[in-house]
Amino acid sequence: MNLPNLNDARKRSNKEVKRIDYKLNNSYKNIGTNKTYHVKTYGCQMNEHDTENIEGLLDNVGFTKCDDMEKADLVILNTCSIRENAHNKAFGMLGRLKHLKEERPNLIIGVCGCMAQEEVVVNEILAKYRHVNFVFGTHNLFDLPRLIYENMDNSKTKIDVFSIEGDLVEGLPVRRTNTFKAYVNIIYGCDKFCTYCIVPYTRGKQRSRRMEDILNEVRKLKEDNYMEVTLLGQNVNAYGKDLDEGYDLADLLEKVSEIGLPRVRFITSHPWDFTDRMIEVIKEHKNIMPYIHLPLQSGSDKILKLMGRRYNRESYKELFNKLKEIDGVSITTDIIVGFPGETEEDFNDTLDMVNYCKYDGAFTFIYSPRVGTPAAKLMEKDSLTMEEKEQRLYKLNEIINNYSLESNKKMEGKTYKVLVEGDSIKENELFGYTETSKLVNFKGNRDFIGKIVDVKICEAKSFSLDGEIVE
Ligand code: 5AD
Ligand code: SF4
Repeated sequence: MNLPNLNDARKRSNKEVKRIDYKLNNSYKNIGTNKTYHVKTYGCQMNEHDTENIEGLLDNVGFTKCDDMEKADLVILNTCSIRENAHNKAFGMLGRLKHLKEERPNLIIGVCGCMAQEEVVVNEILAKYRHVNFVFGTHNLFDLPRLIYENMDNSKTKIDVFSIEGDLVEGLPVRRTNTFKAYVNIIYGCDKFCTYCIVPYTRGKQRSRRMEDILNEVRKLKEDNYMEVTLLGQNVNAYGKDLDEGYDLADLLEKVSEIGLPRVRFITSHPWDFTDRMIEVIKEHKNIMPYIHLPLQSGSDKILKLMGRRYNRESYKELFNKLKEIDGVSITTDIIVGFPGETEEDFNDTLDMVNYCKYDGAFTFIYSPRVGTPAAKLMEKDSLTMEEKEQRLYKLNEIINNYSLESNKKMEGKTYKVLVEGDSIKENELFGYTETSKLVNFKGNRDFIGKIVDVKICEAKSFSLDGEIVE
């Protein structure tokens, strides 16, 4: 048993992080023969990509993917901790799986992801969810074949979670969801410790992959005719800071761009680490997409300080204006309302910033206290009712949606390049994304899926665009 420990998760050691190659132990080679798996994923792109590795690992030891969870022999929940509702969803699913296991006692259940890294969650699993076979964390995903092998007997719940990150494992098997767009991790963990955020505890210290390993992965995507790569990290702009190699995100973007995939994206950027050179590189390379996700979190200097964000209204605006100079750029953001101590004036400052930036889009959230984070201790300053927080969120969303619509309206009548992703939820239509990450629905032949086509925008809405293919 290796149990997660909050105090360890807070630590940042200077211990060297080794980069080692993945190797499968031969004893586990066929553990999945004649068995099926289903992985349920919650949360961000990082988790989605982890699932691609989990599925790759499972394929590699003989399991077969099964789309129907109710029929699978092995079910893995890849969980998210970012807000309470993500927690609740995963625990709800664990309840459902309990019934499934009563019907099928041989069912194997695994839990991983960010919740698995939380001491409180693991204690709850041990107390109330004994039908779980094994729990593993974000730092030992590569060890999944061994965990399955050792815990298929259904005897008791085995916990194997490390709070201090280990080595970076390169060359993990991967089952990519798409054949034309791919995620590539460039940096793991986060050292920013924004006071509301649980990620630095669940994902550990900031660790960049070596540039050569990343480039090799992207070269392979190019060989396989991928159209788009998204470079992933909690804060991609910190790329390279933990290595002694003298390169940063600007250098990496330049090199990735040169490989020549039609579209290069990166997500997420912390305003603190954005350099002028990064902006220059984005401007100079046509295949680096003019789309920046730049979380604001709050527009109040007082709240930003309490959040530990290390920028203020003025410096954010300065950066925002520089980014706006990128040709045809679209900028989106994340905003939290109801942070402990947020007054009406603070909230108005957030609205003021939104009115200044007129974002193309935003993800907005009500603050959710996370156990062990500094902001959770500020809850005694929380004088707002949930209804008041919801009203703030509603008001914010109304303003944001108007700006989204306004920026989308400007696209009407013009033609844009769209990477076609698949069947739209609108009947008999396809969907895809513009270079600026705007969702477009249009009629077209399914042969277009995975290709970049010209689409003329006919009608703009707040969250999507309707268009028609220009042949
Ligand atoms: N409560 C609400 N929102 C949060 N986020 C991160 N932590 C919390 C929290 N405790 C939001 C931030 C971040 C996005 C991924 O999730 O806005 O940018
Ligand atoms: Fe969380 Fe801040 Fe790190 Fe983003 S930069 S993952 S919000 S601590």
